[in-house]
Amino acid sequence: MLVLGIETSCDETSVSLVSERKLLSNVIFSQDEIHAQFGGVVPELAGRRHIEVISAVSKEALSQAGVSLEQVEGIAVTRGPGLVVCLLVGLSFAKAIAWSRGLPLVGVNHLEGHLLAIFLEKPDLKFPFLGLLASGGHTLLSLVEGWGRYQVLGETRDDAAGEALDKAGKLLGLPYPGGKEIDRLSQKGNPRAVEFPIGLNRRDELDYSFSGLKTALLRYLRENPEAEEHLEDLSASYQEAVVSALLKKTLWAREKYQVERIVLSGGVASNRRLREAFSEQAERLGFELYIPSPRLCTDNAGMIALVGEEKLKRGLRDDYRLDARAVLPLENWQ
Ligand code: KG4
Ligand code: ZN
Repeated sequence: MLVLGIETSCDETSVSLVSERKLLSNVIFSQDEIHAQFGGVVPELAGRRHIEVISAVSKEALSQAGVSLEQVEGIAVTRGPGLVVCLLVGLSFAKAIAWSRGLPLVGVNHLEGHLLAIFLEKPDLKFPFLGLLASGGHTLLSLVEGWGRYQVLGETRDDAAGEALDKAGKLLGLPYPGGKEIDRLSQKGNPRAVEFPIGLNRRDELDYSFSGLKTALLRYLRENPEAEEHLEDLSASYQEAVVSALLKKTLWAREKYQVERIVLSGGVASNRRLREAFSEQAERLGFELYIPSPRLCTDNAGMIALVGEEKLKRGLRDDYRLDARAVLPLENWQ
C-alpha cells in the first residue's frame, strides 16, 4: 500500500512516501535556523513556517519517490503529542488531500512513530522488544509487544533527556539545539572530569528524572566560573550522566521483564556516546540491539507513514473531525 505521511508536530516539516515498510522518500525541512536565535522553538513562528513550506515539501517527497499523487492510496498524519499550532497545519493539509482524492485518512501518535521507526530499516524485526524513546519532548521506556500494543514501563517525571541536553546547551552558551552541539564538543572532552548526579538512581525505579542534573550544572557553573573555559570536559561529563541514566534504566528493565531485544529511538538516539554505550553493553551482555540511522531518530514523516500503513492495512480510519492533541498518551489499538 502506498502511503503518504505528514509530520509537523514541532519544528520539522516532513513528508514521506512509504510502501510495504519501505521508505521511498523522506523529505525533512528543518527550522533550526529560525528558532536558533530564540534559543528554542517559538510555536507561532513554527506553525507559520509549516504553512509556507508544506506544499513544496510534499511535491518534493512525491518527486523523490518517483510517484504521483494519483498513485497514493492512503494519508497518515501526526495527531499529537506536539505543538497544536504546528499539528493543525499537517492535519489540515492531510485532510485536504484525503478529501480531494477520496483517500482514507489515519492519525498517528508521534511517539509510536519514533518507537517503531526501526521497521523502515529492519522490516522483519520480531516483537516483543524494549523500546527506549529519548527525544526533546519525551523520555519513555516501553515494552512493545506488537503493532499498537504497548506497555509503558517508565517515563520522565520532569524534563525529557533531549530537553536536559538542550537546557544545558543554553547554560553553556552553545547554539540551539544543545543536544547536537554537546555531542560534538564531547568528542574531545573527558566524561569523568565532573561527576553529575543520576536522578532516581534505584534498581526498582524505571522512571527518569533529569531536572536535578540541570540544577547541578547551574550550581557547578556558579561555583566554578572558570569551568566555562573547559566546555569539552563539561559537555562530555554532562552527556555521560544523561547516557548513564538512559542506559541503566533500560538494562534494569531488560532484567526485570526478561527481554533480549532493545530498540532505541528519538533525537537523542542519534547521540554518538549513547549509541556506543548501548553497543558496548549489547556485546557484553549478549542482547540484540537496534538503532535507526540518525536521520530516522529525529523527527521525520517516514515513521508516521510507516505506522499509518499498518493501521490502514488493518482497516483503521479517521474521519475529518480528527483533531490535534498537545498531550497524547501511547494508546493500544490492537
Ligand atoms: O525526536 P526529535 O527530533 O524531536 C522530538 O520529538 O522532540 O528530538 C530532538 C531532540 C533535541 O532535544 C535535540 O537536542 C536532540 O534530540 N538531539 C541530540 C542529538 N541530535 C538531536 N541529542 C544528543 N545528541 C545528538 N546528536
Ligand atoms: Zn519526535
